[in-house]
Parts: sequence; structure tokens; C-alpha cells
Amino acid sequence: MDGSALREVALRTIIEPFRIKTVEPIRMTTPGDRDRILRSARFNPFRIHGSDVLIDLLTDSGGAAMSSEQWAGIMRGDESYAGSESFWRLRDTVKKLTGFENVLPTHQGRASERILFELVGGPGRVVPSNAHFDTTRANIEHSGAEALDLGIAESADPRRRHPFKGNMDVAALEALIARVGADRVPVVMMTVTNNTSGGQPVSLENLREVRRVCDRHSLPLILDACRFAENAWFIKIREPGQRERTVRQIALDMFDLADGVTISAKKDGLVNIGGLLLIRDPALFERACNLLILTEGYVTYGGLAGRDLEAMAQGFEEVVEDDYLSYRIRSVEYLGEKLLAAGIQIIEPPGGHAIYIDAAHFAPHLPREEFPGQAVVCGLYRVGGIRSCEIGGVMAGPGRTPPMELVRLAIPRRVYTQSHIDYVAEACAELFAVRKELRGLRIVRAPEVLRHFTAEFEEV
Ligand code: F0G
Repeated sequence: MDGSALREVALRTIIEPFRIKTVEPIRMTTPGDRDRILRSARFNPFRIHGSDVLIDLLTDSGGAAMSSEQWAGIMRGDESYAGSESFWRLRDTVKKLTGFENVLPTHQGRASERILFELVGGPGRVVPSNAHFDTTRANIEHSGAEALDLGIAESADPRRRHPFKGNMDVAALEALIARVGADRVPVVMMTVTNNTSGGQPVSLENLREVRRVCDRHSLPLILDACRFAENAWFIKIREPGQRERTVRQIALDMFDLADGVTISAKKDGLVNIGGLLLIRDPALFERACNLLILTEGYVTYGGLAGRDLEAMAQGFEEVVEDDYLSYRIRSVEYLGEKLLAAGIQIIEPPGGHAIYIDAAHFAPHLPREEFPGQAVVCGLYRVGGIRSCEIGGVMAGPGRTPPMELVRLAIPRRVYTQSHIDYVAEACAELFAVRKELRGLRIVRAPEVLRHFTAEFEEV
């Protein structure tokens, strides 16, 4: 025995690459409690109190667990109104990560979007994307412009396994520019990862092709880079020739292609609040600074506390670590595999931050007018106290038929352990077994825009 057998033991289990220092108790509820809670929330989980939720998969936004270094940063935060040291640390971190010199902090992603589209939107304009997130779309439309999704055809088929299902259909982009004229297209957007199409990644190759089209027509390319690190990880493991490169190198390649970036740091910034707006053009940047000061705050805090900037700076360092990303992507995939094994159709392959259940497959007895996605959302809450989110007819809004009726199980970063995820998978499988009992819903009250947040429903 020379010990070589010991050295060759290779464990395959990917564990959470952290241990837990602080715990937040979950209040247990019974099915009876949850039925009452759901009814008083008018069958809309956005209206449920957080303390009435066992596993909260409503969103991966803003619910991340911060690291001990981030909490230490919270104490270090410099609360100077102007020129806070925490801002300079954030600026340097972001510059190293993205190559952008001009960095504005904002309170969250949609504040960056609001400023950007006040500058480049407006009536008669058309803003194409691989797929706009709902707040991006709403901000574009609020400016009077039109928001268009040009995802690849594969993204409309849940079963179709494509390594970069978040890609843009480049021919469709060319056709759009030919049809409306480049002067009506102020910017082209790319959302990485593509949340709307299932948290699916965009390849470097596709980003480069889109960039070439932009160059031919002198159009700026804007990245919505909320989940840039997850996207970079998928590029690393799926795109030919990228495996030996670091996530930082790949991310830098992505950012190098862009003229501007909006980021909600509540995702891959690993913080509870914060966002960024990065703009290369100095004149446009100056106008963005003026708008930021008007409604958000001075350019070195942008509506955040100094401690928030500090936590963000640290979060952007931690999110590009291989150990973190391999655990992150694997833990989401693990849930996806369990649901598929239970016979539940999801968007395949699993995405980066969430699993998207195909609600039309889950509840085929419910017509689209009765919101099958919302019915599954309500079922999951009843069965397991799990809060999920409908991405289908409710979210799309009146008069719009989205390509799919989906239920998103979004996984907050570093919050839940494997046993929580096992519980979620069990609840989904149990609900699937009794799915014929799911009842459709009708809207009894809803606002005109972004209705999914506050709409009230009753069972059909
Ligand atoms: N862009 C994308 C791709 C997003 O997913 C989000 C938020 C935003 C922009 C807006 O950022 O919330 O900081 O203002 N997505 C969350 C979600 C809310 O649940 O998917 P924000």
C-alpha cells in the first residue's frame, strides 16, 4: 500500500461551497392554513406575506444570502454623499470585470432601464432583443417605443435541447432593420441569460454575430447583463474552445462587445438591492448622469447607501468563482432532472437561475383563458407552501398571447440547501399526480400594466 488508491478517490457530489453562519427560521404551515392564505391573497402569490411562504421561489432577485465578507463590507461602507470610498471600490471592481470606465450605480435594474430608455427610446422607435424582461419591455413602451423579441425558433419548444437557447435569431434582426430602417432602431438589446426564454444562455458566437449586424448599421449594442456570470459559465462549459478560459475572461469578452450595459445586481451581484448602468459614449453617459441625479441620487451613490455599494463590489468578485458557479448551475439542473424524472415537462435543458414548468403540459385540461400557469402556481402553494411565478398569459397582459404558459421556480442564490430542493421536487411530483383537480382562474381585478403583481383572481 503506497497510498495511491487514496489519492485517486474522486468524489462527484457537488456540495454547497459554503457553511451556514446565520439561520432564518421558516414558519411551518398546514394545507388548511395555506388554503385560507391563498384565498385571502385572491389567488395571487405576490399578495402573500413572506412569512407565510415555506420555500420562496418567486424570484432569484434580491433574495441572495450575503457572504461574511459582504457583511463585513456593510460595516465598512462609506456613507459620504459625494465620492464615497465604497463607490470607488465598486467602480474599480466593475471596471476590472467589464472594462467599462463609466459606471453609474442605481437602486436596481429597472432604474437603469428607465434612464437608458428616456435617453434612447421614444415614439416611432423599435428596440429588438433576444427577449426583453417585463420591466425592460414596460420601460421601452413607457417611452413610446416598441419592444420586440427575436429569439431563435428552438426557444419556443420546451423539449428542444439546444445549448444556447437564449440566442437571438440574427436573420430576423437583419430583416427587422431592413423593414423599419436602421434610423428607427436606437439600440439592439441582448439579455444574458435570457430570462423570458427559460434562463437560457446566449453564446459568444451569437453575441458576436449580433455585434456584426450592429456594426453594419452603426447601431449600439446594449447588454441586459443581470445574470452575466451564469451566462459566462454556460459558455465555458458548452461553447467549443472556451473550457480552459476563466469566467472572468469570458465575461470580459461579452462586455467588450457592448456599448452599454444595464445590470440588476440583485441577481449576479449577490446583493439584496442595487443595479448598474454602464455607458461607453461620454456624451450619452453625461446625459445619463444628469437623469440619475434628477431622480436617483448623486453619481457616486445612485439611490443606494454606501454599504450597499460595498456589498455589491464584493458580490461581483464572488459570483465569478468557479466553485460558486459550478454549484449554482448544478443545483438548478438537479431540480430540473428530478421534475423530468417525475414526468413533468420543463424547458429543457434546465436554465441558469430557474426551472420553468410547461403549464400547458402540466394542466392540459385548462384552456389558456383560465390561466393554467397561475393554477399550477396556486397548486404548488397549496401542496407545499412553495411560492412560484406564472410567466404566461397573466404576465403577458391583455391582448397578448405568449409563446408558452410557464411556471418559474427561481432559485435564490446560496439560500436553500439540497433538502429544500428535494422537498420542492416532491411537492411538484405530488401535485402532478393529482393535476386533474387543478381549477382554472379568472381575473376579477387588474391594473393596466404589469398586472401580474397585483391582479386578483377567483376560481372558475
Ligand atoms: N432584466 C432582467 C433580465 C431581469 O430578470 C430583471 C429582473 C430586470 C432586468 C429588472 O431588474 O428587478 O432589479 O429592477 N428580474 C426579476 C425576476 C425581478 O424575477 O426575474 P430589477
